[in-house]
Amino acid sequence: RKPVSLQRLLDMHASGEKIAMLTCYDAAFAHLQDEAGVDVMLVGDSLGNVLQGQPTTAPVELEEMVYHTRCVARGRRTAFIVGDLPFGSYQGTLAETWHSAAALVKAGAHMVKLEGGGWTAPAVRYLVERGIPVCAHLGFTPQTVTALGGFKVQGRDEASAARLRAHAQELVEAGAQMLVLEMVPAALAAELTQSLPIPVIGIGAGVGCSGQVLVLHDMLNITPGRKPRFVKNFMQGAASVQEAVQRYVAEVKARTFPEDAVHGF
Ligand code: KIV
Ligand code: NA
Repeated sequence: RKPVSLQRLLDMHASGEKIAMLTCYDAAFAHLQDEAGVDVMLVGDSLGNVLQGQPTTAPVELEEMVYHTRCVARGRRTAFIVGDLPFGSYQGTLAETWHSAAALVKAGAHMVKLEGGGWTAPAVRYLVERGIPVCAHLGFTPQTVTALGGFKVQGRDEASAARLRAHAQELVEAGAQMLVLEMVPAALAAELTQSLPIPVIGIGAGVGCSGQVLVLHDMLNITPGRKPRFVKNFMQGAASVQEAVQRYVAEVKARTFPEDAVHGF
């Protein structure tokens, strides 16, 4: 397989070929995911939950994201790497935001992701103009779970849906080239995917997105405790971890995952 470029992801969005994305935090899984045909590996700050055992992603440090991004980059051959900017690393000055994003790029990220809409547009524009591709993240934003009042679906009522549409448009105008939508009604996510010129990657956002993302440990069913509704256990019926990841890729490509009645809102 040829290395997955940003242009390839934009082409996949345009042609309707689904994008399979998974979180990845180390070289062993980067190698495995690459072999299984994962298009995009997200070095997510969900590592605060799944690797560090923290209650939220807020405590994750930039240097920790840099370390895991380096590990993933060493195991990767062809997949596109997105690195999460952790909480506190892009909310201050544009100079601080640049420092954070550049650190992830130096570690091997091809694109950085940041959460939130409206106020993030200047930061997105600043990074994009200086050569760092940016993925936006709207809907439920885990870094600000406290301010959101808990794990709640976003964009349910008309005012909230209108705000989400406006934020997405603004981020595209600022230069964002990918958008993650988390816990958003399937109909709204499908509408945004149709109307926006950039790939929309859903997690709990329905099958109508350009692609899907899940937390690796969730889909391998090794996260302790109750799993969110949008998670599917791909180890069920799989003989190996490799096969579970292959099945995830196959089901995303075939649009058989997610099933909106089961995993959607
Ligand atoms: O950190 C993460 O795993 C994420 C995905 C859930 C989109 O941001
Ligand atoms: Na994240």
